[in-house]
Amino acid sequence: MTDRKPPLTASLEADHRELDELLGRFLAAADALDARRAIEEFDERLRTHMLLEEERLYSAQPARKLLPAEVESEHERLERGLLLEHVQIREISGMMRRLLEEKNDLPSARALWSNLARRWDAHTTREERELFPIVNRRIGES
Ligand SMILES: [Fe+2]
Ligand SMILES: [Fe+2]
Repeated sequence: MTDRKPPLTASLEADHRELDELLGRFLAAADALDARRAIEEFDERLRTHMLLEEERLYSAQPARKLLPAEVESEHERLERGLLLEHVQIREISGMMRRLLEEKNDLPSARALWSNLARRWDAHTTREERELFPIVNRRIGES
């Protein structure tokens, strides 16, 4: 193979697919215990994945995020949007996890699933189509 992808974005993409599967496992869970195990694993791996991205992939500094829109570059705007999605997705995942761990409340956790899945899907699609190619070009140039 000559067109092999750089390892960082390739492994992040593989993470996305594994996390997709865990979301599917939550939905297919036979009972609250199964669902709890699936969302616990999803939540743990999601946090590790996002932390790695925030440390290795995203260049925006926290202070830069407060800049007004007109002095923000396209790339900064993209990163700001994606980082905000990280916060929102972690929040919903954590909420689902707490509902099962603290209240054993499967119906309420399930009610949040489509919101989580929709946001996760949109986020990973945007990273893979818009952010990863930029990162790969940057790696290729250095
Ligand atoms: Fe991300
Ligand atoms: Fe990601």
